Amino acid sequence: MSEQPKTTTRRDFLRTTGGLAVAASMPGFRLPNVHPSGDETIQVALVGCGGRGTSAAFNALSTKHGPTKLVAMADVFQDRLSGSYDQLAGSSLKEQVDVPADRRFLGFDGYKKAMNALRPGDVVILTTPPAFRWPHFQYAIAKKLNVFMEKPVTVDGPTSKRMLKLGEEASAAGLKVGVGLMSRHAKWLQELHARVQDGEIGDVLFMRGYRMHGPTASFESKPKPDNISHLEYQIRRFHSFLWCSGGCYNDFYIHHVDHLCWMKNAWPVSAQAVGGRHYRTTPNGEPLVDQNLDSYAVEYTFDDGTKFIFEGRCIDGAHGIYSSYLHGSKGMAIAARSGDCNGPSSTYRGQKPIAENMIWQSTDRTNPYQEEWEVLMDAIRRNKPYNEVERGVEASLVSSMGRMAAHTGQLITHDAMLNCEHEFAPDVDKLTYESDAPLMPDASGRYPVPRPGWNPKTEF
Ligand SMILES: NC(=O)c1ccc[n+]([C@@H]2O[C@H](COP(=O)([O-])OP(=O)(O)OC[C@H]3O[C@@H](n4cnc5c(N)ncnc54)[C@H](O)[C@@H]3O)[C@@H](O)[C@H]2O)c1
Repeated sequence: MSEQPKTTTRRDFLRTTGGLAVAASMPGFRLPNVHPSGDETIQVALVGCGGRGTSAAFNALSTKHGPTKLVAMADVFQDRLSGSYDQLAGSSLKEQVDVPADRRFLGFDGYKKAMNALRPGDVVILTTPPAFRWPHFQYAIAKKLNVFMEKPVTVDGPTSKRMLKLGEEASAAGLKVGVGLMSRHAKWLQELHARVQDGEIGDVLFMRGYRMHGPTASFESKPKPDNISHLEYQIRRFHSFLWCSGGCYNDFYIHHVDHLCWMKNAWPVSAQAVGGRHYRTTPNGEPLVDQNLDSYAVEYTFDDGTKFIFEGRCIDGAHGIYSSYLHGSKGMAIAARSGDCNGPSSTYRGQKPIAENMIWQSTDRTNPYQEEWEVLMDAIRRNKPYNEVERGVEASLVSSMGRMAAHTGQLITHDAMLNCEHEFAPDVDKLTYESDAPLMPDASGRYPVPRPGWNPKTEF
């Protein structure tokens, strides 16, 4: 990968994709009113009515920058659409849920119908698996909609370039875009960031992130049952398939990648990694056919030589740890004490996080999932430039860089990852219920898996 002849740096790429966003941030730049009719209500559509999408809809309806109203929903599976609708319409926010049956859209083109029900300046929530992010975002921009989209926003090089370009187009159109990397909206991490920048722990020399627990979500998959199509099976179990999610590495580990790189104010320039899969059967011997490794240890390197280690594991019975740390020339910090970004965060003199060394510990308990909506809605109401796409793409790309280093057994640079031409699901925008899945199994029902060293150019 690192010897690819024709490479583009991210800076080159942004320079050649217009730069029109500058216009949107110029003094005096005005968008048309969000709603020329004078109606203050911002309408919301939900595309991808699963767990996170339903929660994000609750966040949208709970904002202090209302009024807001949910008016359309779209999904590819009836049970998910109905389940989400029932939850929202049966909740304490039901007055803000106005989604009659003819605005609940089923199908791979449902996203278009849901967005067609909105007016320019309204908000669409994009919470499908990430494979669908770029076509959905593209249509949102065409419809002049503000967007909240979940992480990861890309899973490979070509879609990263596409999303960077779309992000620029959204800014140029004056649209506001939030990305669900909620760490950045956790008040304790914001305070830690300020303290680190002020030199409280000295120069940051080393960072560590860990997410190690048993198999969760759709990390592992048994062979497809007969009563379901390949496409449906893979979308329902998207963490198992690299085209759909980037696998467990991107989906589970991106939050630590994102907030530790933020603490450093930089993205790593390269990654080397080890990874393996210890168990290809359940404890009682049933085969597991997904594409994930169950153990990853990635060493990222920043331009100044600083290292960041991320370790991820999905194995029952092994030591569990799910937290992140920074080490500086004067002291150290706990960033996420547990989970993706849970506080309290704290700083210490020296390298041992013990009570007598503590300098500061956060006390804030604000919900970052709500906070990310407050910032987005405030920007929409006050027409302030707001676009988290570039950061979302970088966090996704750096996740992919670590994953690819483990999957190929090679040192992968940031530019090599951005320029890697392997697009995992090139025709994802053309899928229908009748389509084959972008990845089909072999005759035994198994999918191609990473072969580090043996397959040094591509991940599967
Ligand atoms: N920020 C966070 O902490 C956080 C937490 C959970 C999930 N997420 C992200 O949210 C996204 C969704 O995750 P989830 O846990 O809600 O999964 P989920 O399976 O519960 O929800 C995804 C939904 O999208 C639907 N869908 C799939 N393809 C579609 C398409 N082409 N058009 C319309 N609908 C489609 C599915 O049927 C499902 O209802 C993922 O990107 C995930 O990484 C983020």
